[in-house]
This record gives sequence, C-alpha cells and structure tokens, in this order.
Amino acid sequence: MFGDPLPAGWTAPPDPDRLAFRRLTDDDLVLLHRWLNEPGIVRWWEGDDVSWDGVLGRYSTASTADDSVEHHLGLLDGEPVGWIQCWFLADEPDMEDWLGLGFAAHDTAGIDYLIGSVEHRGHGLGTALIAAFVERVVFAEHAWIDAVGSDPDSDNHASWRALESAGFRQVAQQQAEGRTYRVMRRDRAGAVEAGTGRLT
Ligand SMILES: CC(C)(COP(=O)(O)OP(=O)(O)OC[C@H]1O[C@@H](n2cnc3c(N)ncnc32)[C@H](O)[C@@H]1OP(=O)(O)O)[C@@H](O)C(=O)NCCC(=O)NCCS
Repeated sequence: MFGDPLPAGWTAPPDPDRLAFRRLTDDDLVLLHRWLNEPGIVRWWEGDDVSWDGVLGRYSTASTADDSVEHHLGLLDGEPVGWIQCWFLADEPDMEDWLGLGFAAHDTAGIDYLIGSVEHRGHGLGTALIAAFVERVVFAEHAWIDAVGSDPDSDNHASWRALESAGFRQVAQQQAEGRTYRVMRRDRAGAVEAGTGRLT
C-alpha cells in the first residue's frame, strides 16, 4: 500500500457498509477549503481558484443553486473523508468532446473526487468510495443515467487505478495543454452501451 500509516482504529480496505454519502453544505466549506489546499490535492486542481473566495464562489449553496452539479461528502463511520461530485453531460457544453468518444448526452454523468487527508489515501478508500458512489448515488438516484465517466491525468496513477478497481475502463486518451488525460467509463449493469448495441 502507498499511504501513510493508517490512523488509529482504521482497517483497510474499508467495509462498504461503513461508507455513506451526504450533500455538501455551507458548514462543510472550511473543511473543503482545507482539503483543496493540501499539496497532494492542489497539484491535480491546476487552474482552479482554491482561495477561500474561490471555494465560496464554486461550492457554496448560493453559487450552486442554479447548477445541476451535485456535490457530496463521502463519510466513513459517519465522518467526512472525501468530496465527490456528480455532473451531467447534457448540462456541460464544455465537455461536448465526450460525445465523439461514444458517450451520449442524455444518459451520461461525470464524477470528480478527492480523499481529504493524506493518511487516508492509498489504503483502498478511494476505490471503495468511487464504487459505492456510482452504485448508490449516481445510478440509484438517477434512473436515466446509464454511463459514468471521469478523465484523470495520466500521471495521477492513484486516480485512474482507483477508477479501474471500481469497475471503469479506459475508452480514450486526450491531450490538453501538454498533459494527457485518460477518459474512463463505467456502464450501469445491463445497460446497452450507446452506439455499440453491446450489453454491459
Ligand atoms: C485519487 C484518490 C481518490 C484515490 O484514492 P486512494 O484511496 O488514494 O486510492 P486507493 O488506495 O483506492 O488505490 C487505488 C489504486 O491506486 C494505487 N495507488 C494508491 N496511491 C498511489 C500512489 N500514491 N501512487 C501510485 N499508485 C497509487 C493503489 O495501489 C491502487 O492500485 P491497485 O488497484 O493496482 O492496487 C486519492 O489518492 C486522492 O484523493 N488523491 C488526491 C486528489 C486526486 O487526485 N483526485 C482525483 C483527481 S482526477
């Protein structure tokens, strides 16, 4: 395992029954601001404003009221350990290049995520949270969503491996601003993949 020694009382990987999700509230923004400024996270949030004003402007309930993006906290034994968001391709014109990769606007969600504390990373928590979130939140709460995508930086081994371990597969590589991104996809069990007729 890659992570620092586990915090007292932890076992790894966590039993999925110990995981839960709840919506991010304004009371969580101090915690989120701290997480987003941790060096192991901020390096993957290049270009994002992670100042306090930037976090308020992007994640506060006032700033997200008219936005379909859903922000959640991942909980382990009831305690927040990570943030994970779910967005909808139909509402994200900036992501329309995914349409050329086989994703369909009407049934695709995207996810982004982080584990807040460095000592919680590298013990299987990210894999378990992603897998549980896709099943219990993305698919369970959105009957029209059949595919989930994410596009980690190729250099972010922990991120794309966590996705693979959570049932995603790579469907493309993209280049942008000198970096390479792996576009990863997981389909709802039993869904027919758009354009392929393939039953997943
Ligand atoms: C990405 C992240 C959520 C993964 O969660 P995690 O709990 O650390 O990952 P896991 O312990 O579940 O490990 C997933 C895989 O990555 C590997 N891995 C974990 N940490 C690693 C590291 N530092 N370097 C290389 N590989 C690593 C694990 O061995 C595992 O691979 P395996 O299935 O082949 O054994 C977490 O590391 C994180 O929050 N990182 C900072 C923020 C971030 O990068 N977010 C994603 C942006 S796209």
